[in-house]
Amino acid sequence: MKNVLVTGGAGFIGSNFVRYLLTHEPNVHVYNLDALTYAGSLENLRDLPDPNRHTFLHGNICDQALVERVFRDYEIDLVVHFAAESHVDRSIFEPDAFIQTNVFGTFSLLEAAKRAWLDRSPPSSEVRFHHISTDEVFGSLHPDDPPFREDTPYAPNSPYAASKAASDHLVRAYGHTYGLPYTLTNCSNNYGPYQFPEKLIPLMILNALEGKFLPVYGDGKQVRDWLYVEDHCEAILLVLRQAPLGESYNIGGGNQPTNLEIVESLCDILDEVVPNSPHKPHRRLIRFVADRPGHDRRYAMDITKISTQLGWKPKHTLAEGLLATVQWYLENEEWVEAIRQRGDFKAWMQQNYAQRGERP
Ligand code: NAD
Ligand code: TYD
Repeated sequence: MKNVLVTGGAGFIGSNFVRYLLTHEPNVHVYNLDALTYAGSLENLRDLPDPNRHTFLHGNICDQALVERVFRDYEIDLVVHFAAESHVDRSIFEPDAFIQTNVFGTFSLLEAAKRAWLDRSPPSSEVRFHHISTDEVFGSLHPDDPPFREDTPYAPNSPYAASKAASDHLVRAYGHTYGLPYTLTNCSNNYGPYQFPEKLIPLMILNALEGKFLPVYGDGKQVRDWLYVEDHCEAILLVLRQAPLGESYNIGGGNQPTNLEIVESLCDILDEVVPNSPHKPHRRLIRFVADRPGHDRRYAMDITKISTQLGWKPKHTLAEGLLATVQWYLENEEWVEAIRQRGDFKAWMQQNYAQRGERP
């Protein structure tokens, strides 16, 4: 039985991964360390397939003593590190928490892993620190540039991307200097169940259902490489099982729609699946608003390495993934309503819209 420390497992991708791991790996116990910030919720873990193999630990990854205790008490042999501040817009207005959690938090975990696994005789074997990162560390592409590869130089543009880049560098440095056994994955934009509705896709779905306007930043021609979250989870598990230590892999969906095309697709899906909506056609809710400062124009991932070495490619097309996501948000009204009623969510929406000279 492997003892797996998942950090940030009450957030969007982390909770999907915990569910995926428990479903596909009968021989793991998951210790889920999460501070339950605005982005984390135990409601995201309500439908775990085998809850007896899951222990939730409420705590902050920056708390060095706590993290070391977790390694010791639960004899952790695998870390899958998701915990982070993850929203670019928030990082522009309030970067402090990004530096704390993404940089110092990762440092604290690396130190704990080093002390538990390496500062002993003999050092632990069969252990691994897997770091979850993003395509945003590579910066922004021009329309004709080739997609990001694993050896593309880092050029992060937002405080979020810079803090993630710093954490990637720390992980690599712990591998290089101390021999910490690690792997690293950089993934493109995820979407799917349980995504907090401050991000593009769930925000647009929920606003459209309420007949609120759909705020498209700038000209809406920015391009992201969208991946359904379950496909990301599958790729991570494959890396954990098969990837050699010290390697990094790019993960992406191979999609190149503009933001405006994504929003229009969601509107069209909603027209179909909510035929009696008073807000039809939903496209009329689209409104162009002030752009995000420093907005990255285009991301795209070259997934040749993970597909040739590990045989991974995404299973869901964008059309399938968007439909499944819209249906999930329609079927999970209670989850949605709980977030809508939260003061911190309303306050953020007001702040974000106010910065753009708009009202929600
Ligand atoms: P999220 O914001 O939905 O969840 C983050 C989780 O981390 C929350 O449960 C939160 O409570 C927890 N957390 C935050 N600070 C913490 C701290 N100091 N200590 C302990 N827990 C803390 O994020 P997400 O979208 O699920 O992203 C997860 C990871 O994947 C992040 O590392 C992110 O950089 C990376 N990533 C995200 C995407 C994406 O599209 N969402 C794409 C590529 C990579
Ligand atoms: P987001 O989901 O915040 O992810 P990221 O910034 O990490 O890529 O945004 C995805 C894209 O959608 C990004 O180009 C910004 C844009 N966007 C909007 O146009 N309107 C919105 O209300 C939001 C939240 C994002």
